[in-house]
Amino acid sequence: MPEKRIILKNCGLIDPKEINTSLAQDGFKALTKALTEMTPEQVIEEIKASGLRGRGGAGFPCGLKWELTRSAAGNEKYLICNADEGEVGTFKDRYIIENDPFSLIEGIAIAAYAIGVKQAYIYLRAEYHFLLDQLSNAISQAREKGFLEHVDIEIREGAGAYIAGEESGLMNSIEGGRVEARYKPPFPPTEGLWQKPTSINNVETLMNIPRIILNGADWFNQIGTERSKGTKVFSVSGDVAMPGVYELVLGTPLRELVMELARAKNVKLLQIGGASGRIIPGTMLDTPLSFETMLGAGAIIVFDESRDVIDIVSRTMEFFAEESCGKCSPCREGTVAMVKIMERFAGGGAAERDIKLLEELSSAMVLTSLCGLGQAAPTPVTDSLQHFRRAYEERIQEAKVVKQ
Ligand SMILES: Cc1cc2nc3c(=O)[nH]c(=O)nc-3n(C[C@H](O)[C@H](O)[C@H](O)COP(=O)(O)O)c2cc1C
Ligand code: SF4
Repeated sequence: MPEKRIILKNCGLIDPKEINTSLAQDGFKALTKALTEMTPEQVIEEIKASGLRGRGGAGFPCGLKWELTRSAAGNEKYLICNADEGEVGTFKDRYIIENDPFSLIEGIAIAAYAIGVKQAYIYLRAEYHFLLDQLSNAISQAREKGFLEHVDIEIREGAGAYIAGEESGLMNSIEGGRVEARYKPPFPPTEGLWQKPTSINNVETLMNIPRIILNGADWFNQIGTERSKGTKVFSVSGDVAMPGVYELVLGTPLRELVMELARAKNVKLLQIGGASGRIIPGTMLDTPLSFETMLGAGAIIVFDESRDVIDIVSRTMEFFAEESCGKCSPCREGTVAMVKIMERFAGGGAAERDIKLLEELSSAMVLTSLCGLGQAAPTPVTDSLQHFRRAYEERIQEAKVVKQ
């Protein structure tokens, strides 16, 4: 099946520095429709009916998040577009901002109208500093055309940490505090930025909004699977001949993306959803890409037969140990302990008890870590133990032989 470009329809077609090229492709028509023909409540109902779920990783229903934020007490409310894109192997949001900033701004403007927000922020990944001028220019042009009379959009540059993409770490960063996760509840729709109701939405989630408002919830609802509506933008990298950004209807088998579009060969394993995502063997290429199975933020990293699973998991755990914000001990200490155990597997010093240790540590971290980082950090370990246990056992046997 070829790609289906709904989110990326303007990429390569318009000039991201010139708003008139966006207007020529129906840019800001959905905003005009929302502002002149729909009440804020109707916009929210349309998004709810579409079945749109968040594209930043957790898949929370977008319309419901907006409704919760709109109905929360108080008049001062915020919208944050999460463009931190810190997940390993993810580069789809960068591609979107680089090629079609106008649709994103339109999505933000519609969201602000629906929720009742006068101040919106785009939290731009620190490493995407090179996009700052172009994005600011796009906002200025939208303002000059009169599309942003109801909302101010400000760009805040990221803190350069993985945890800055986690919604509560992100809010701390905007407030100028230490970038670490907050205790939940309260959740952002009731108590977010500066303790005010806040909706945090991923770049790709907001890109869907103008398309849905213009074409209707029914149109969107017919694309995808039962619980995964619409398309998804994937970032594919690793051992593939054609790495890049691809947009597919949700539910499409992984095989079409990895083998046909990205042209992989001899696939040994894949990381779906980046470092925090799932590790699966190449034998599972017929898995549909959907919220029902696995998705995350849409990073697909492909490893061929030449790769060593222990090495991949070790390096992923090093990443988590480095990025742990240190606020809670299961994650702060657990990630470091896991790195040490994985070093024993990689360096030839592992024993049978190390597998048990990894399993016990994993379940403790999943159950007791404060935020998604620590809760997801053990996933590469548990998945690789499930699908590639022999690789671990072989290392233990090799260590025994060396000792003798
Ligand atoms: C450690 C960690 C890092 C995250 N990084 C990002 C990120 O870079 N971009 C993003 O949109 N969501 C990220 N998230 C998810 C956000 O917390 C949040 O769920 C998301 O921005 C909500 O938007 P959505 O509902 O549109 O998906 C991260 C979560 C965790 C636990
Ligand atoms: S789980 Fe890790 S990243 Fe999250 S609060 Fe605890 S130490 Fe920080």
